Amino acid sequence: MSLISVDEKKSIFHLSNGKISYIFQVEEQNLLHHIYFGKAISDYHGGLTYPRFERSFSTNFKGDKNRVYSRDTLLQEYSSLGSGDFRIPSIEIVMDSGSSVCDFRYKYYKMFSGKKKLHPLPHVWTENDSEAETIEIYLEDVANKLLLCLSYTIYRDYDIIARSARLENQGKSEIQVNKLASMSIDLPFEKREMIHLPGSWGNERQIERKEIHRGIQIIDSKRGTTSHQENPFIALVEPSTTEHQGKAYGFLLIYSGNHEEALELDQYEQLRLTMGINPSGFQWNLKPNKQFQTPEVILTFSENGLNGMSQNFHNIIQNRIIRSKHKNAERPILINNWEATYFNFNEEKIKEIIDVSAKLGIELFVLDDGWFGKRDSDQTSLGDWYENFEKLPNGLRGLSEYAHDKGMKFGLWFEPEMISERSKLFAEHPDYYFHVPGIEATLSRSQYVLDLSNEDVLNYLFDSIHKILKGNNIDYVKWDMNRYLTDVFSLLLKNKQQGEVSHRYVINLYRLIDKLTKQHPDILFEACSGGGGRFDAGMLYYMPQIWTSDNSDAVARLKIQYGTSLVYPPSTMGAHVSAVPNHQNGRITPLMTRANVAMSGVFGYELDPTLLTIEEKVQIEEQIKFYKKYRNLLLYGTFIRLSSPFENNHCVWQVVSDDKSECIVTYSNILSHAAPPLERLHLIGLEKEAHYYCPEMNITCSGDELMNIGLYIFPIFNQGDFESRVFRFTKI
Ligand code: DGJ
Repeated sequence: MSLISVDEKKSIFHLSNGKISYIFQVEEQNLLHHIYFGKAISDYHGGLTYPRFERSFSTNFKGDKNRVYSRDTLLQEYSSLGSGDFRIPSIEIVMDSGSSVCDFRYKYYKMFSGKKKLHPLPHVWTENDSEAETIEIYLEDVANKLLLCLSYTIYRDYDIIARSARLENQGKSEIQVNKLASMSIDLPFEKREMIHLPGSWGNERQIERKEIHRGIQIIDSKRGTTSHQENPFIALVEPSTTEHQGKAYGFLLIYSGNHEEALELDQYEQLRLTMGINPSGFQWNLKPNKQFQTPEVILTFSENGLNGMSQNFHNIIQNRIIRSKHKNAERPILINNWEATYFNFNEEKIKEIIDVSAKLGIELFVLDDGWFGKRDSDQTSLGDWYENFEKLPNGLRGLSEYAHDKGMKFGLWFEPEMISERSKLFAEHPDYYFHVPGIEATLSRSQYVLDLSNEDVLNYLFDSIHKILKGNNIDYVKWDMNRYLTDVFSLLLKNKQQGEVSHRYVINLYRLIDKLTKQHPDILFEACSGGGGRFDAGMLYYMPQIWTSDNSDAVARLKIQYGTSLVYPPSTMGAHVSAVPNHQNGRITPLMTRANVAMSGVFGYELDPTLLTIEEKVQIEEQIKFYKKYRNLLLYGTFIRLSSPFENNHCVWQVVSDDKSECIVTYSNILSHAAPPLERLHLIGLEKEAHYYCPEMNITCSGDELMNIGLYIFPIFNQGDFESRVFRFTKI
């Protein structure tokens, strides 16, 4: 079955895989008119001509005496600036003449099986050409000699559309591109709400849902990275949509730099959404015969509520965005020494941690910040990627061999994109960091950002990191990034190219990571940016897991992981058990709760195991055994949110195996209640007629019972604050 059908006579393009449909048409004046995105339409016959009637003050075309057709109102696929559509433009360019007026009209299309690579931009990939089809729609601005290609890919087995745009300058003069959206979509009048994931350091991806009002609402990052403050994601839902039912549209930008998601509810309550690189501070000089390719956006639709939308995102991210060979592998249980020692460690201390961890069954030791240069605090040495033999007399090799001898893997922390003023690298290359000559650059965590648009910087980073990885039997790398970009100025680029620098930074970051990960395919890479400051699909293309947040408090993590799961699957979320009182918020939670919450991600510990009591060690051994047994299910099963910590005094989520034979429910209560309401928990996604045994409750129930009647889980409500339990259900 073909996934894209074209009605040549009516110029209608219909992308459908039997579950979702995306339809657009070439309208009068060759404008590209958006018709529909949503549940699959079996056969679209073209009855939805955009209504013709006069709207005062709207722009018209020459010859339209009745003034009934206007760009000002038409639902479009991509909108030009300055020629009669006053809503958010998809494109903003300045021609050699100084004019910004542009006017793109449909010219032709190309269709093919599979999908093109956008390398070095991360993108949704295909395993073979038969699993997806792509249509490229070419629009032309004749006067300005510009060709715009809008690319749409639909997959047979994933309910997503991947969109991006590419602009080609076919004229004789250079133009300035100030905005080129990855996609724009205009939706017809309907009451909708928006959901996004705002946050801050230690409080990432908090779900916020609100009504959409007239005017413009922008979600963005101008911080040089995706940011802790806003993820490049937005969902549009009906007011009645819940986790389990109702229409949910999700949009996700695959990019790790400045981004913008702009929504406009227009004068007639039609809704426009554009997404892409943030136009603020962006300016690309496009020479004649050159092209500019935008990052890609994934669009998804589900009528099964937010869980349906999330599962679509999880599937595509897990199967067609992450490339690492570790993507479906059993991820090792790690222990990280950051919260155990911070910078204050020596070889002996690290060996002690390894000794205890190995006995507990932990599989990977990660040496965090402080092993290189003269790094005993965050004031110094970033950029000096060589070993500190004073601190570690036998070097990294000595330590990695020690860990390997104990049956553990060995991992290492880097923060490649940064430079400390007090470093050898700074002394030798004071020109390597972002700064505007004559202006004092802004510090953050006492460090500057390296100018990654400089090839010498890239080569230095590759060579120094590669040397450490090659020579020391490293199994894992944590790639950290602990500040946002300021003073974005490259000494090597011309004045007028400075607006290109932040995008060049991201592109070159991808190139660097690509080269290192290809050179070291066996190493498991984990991204990090002060926790989850760069948690995005762009990074996941290169690294299969990301440290979700520096806040490892189990209760805070309920919201952080719940919010993150709106888009990203559990296999991408680094989650650790840390000591109490928690170092970020001082909260004391039971060890069981800390583990239960962390097990719903890539599990590990971040504490000093030499300080554990015997009872704690026994408990941890049990946790480790449990995770080893169930990690495939916990990481790769279907993840379902059952009850939100944003709305309730508890948080419940569930994972179900593909064959529905196994299910794990994690129930976390927040505050204790002497007289709790007798709520029943209803599971989802089980086999109706199958029987499931739950060892924790010692009961057998049919799938039907569990899903429709539900279960009482009263006993933990009044046993103290922050109690949690895990319940297994196994088909018998
Ligand atoms: C921020 C990270 O999120 C932490 O886990 C830790 O690696 C520190 N940086 C080290 O400086």
